[in-house]
Amino acid sequence: MAKIVAGVGTSHVPAIGAALDNGRTGEPYWKPVFAGYEKSKEWIAKLKPDVCIAVYNDHASAFSLEMFPTFGVGAGEEYPIADEGWGPRPVPPVKGHPDLAWHIIQSVVQDDFDLCICNKMAVDHGLSVPLSVMFGQPSEWPCPIIPVIVNVVVYPVPTGKRCYMLGKAIRKAVESFDKDLKVVIFGTGGMSHQLAGQRAGLINKEFDNRFLDNLVHDPAANLDITHLEYLREAGAEAIELVMWQVMRGALDDEVNEIHRFYHVPASNTAVGHIILENKKS
Ligand code: DHB
Ligand code: FE
Repeated sequence: MAKIVAGVGTSHVPAIGAALDNGRTGEPYWKPVFAGYEKSKEWIAKLKPDVCIAVYNDHASAFSLEMFPTFGVGAGEEYPIADEGWGPRPVPPVKGHPDLAWHIIQSVVQDDFDLCICNKMAVDHGLSVPLSVMFGQPSEWPCPIIPVIVNVVVYPVPTGKRCYMLGKAIRKAVESFDKDLKVVIFGTGGMSHQLAGQRAGLINKEFDNRFLDNLVHDPAANLDITHLEYLREAGAEAIELVMWQVMRGALDDEVNEIHRFYHVPASNTAVGHIILENKKS
């Protein structure tokens, strides 16, 4: 049977992708950011997942105000890299896993999550930057990826608790897939950040670190953080942390923390990263 063995939480700051793409990772500003992912690259290269499920928010790249699904699962064979205004990043297209994706859709919809089925979708920095920091710069991504998108762009957006429950439904779906697959789930976005307005640049280290601690030891403690709290405490874009709740919901109650990294700043954002493994796997 397929099994989710680990979860990866990471920020997905577009400037991190630009630093990589333009060969600037050795510069003093960027060096400490990329150093935080060295262990992660070794870890995932050794683990060799068969499939990654990548939960991220589309930043109005594939969707727009015309149409914005609350949750969506990519069921396609391949996803092009989105042009976010300065041309697509020079990274490989993302290959999907339609069999597992359709199985997840079937199971999760039966579990009362009414998902959007995305057969054709460009994927933006919310997905490509996490792939780059984890897998480096290969000519092809090392495994199929199933994109899962969550709306945090158009209000109302789903609650952290709902996202956590979606993670549980995804886990159940994966565990009923009739093939031996080692699956890793990513939750991307956050941590503290506010990109615009009077509070632009707002960082709340205490909030972020409490979120990370709870993620490891007491995930239930994060579930009742309201949208207003994310916004007030950690900036308008901190709502992206609900993606990490999907990832956490898909893991065991008890997990081992394999790696954690927290650094300020990258662009206007606190970069957070965590790797959690299921104890039983
Ligand atoms: C930044 C961070 C994001 O998560 C994002 O989607 C866009 C920009 C930033 O810090 O620049
Ligand atoms: Fe973002």
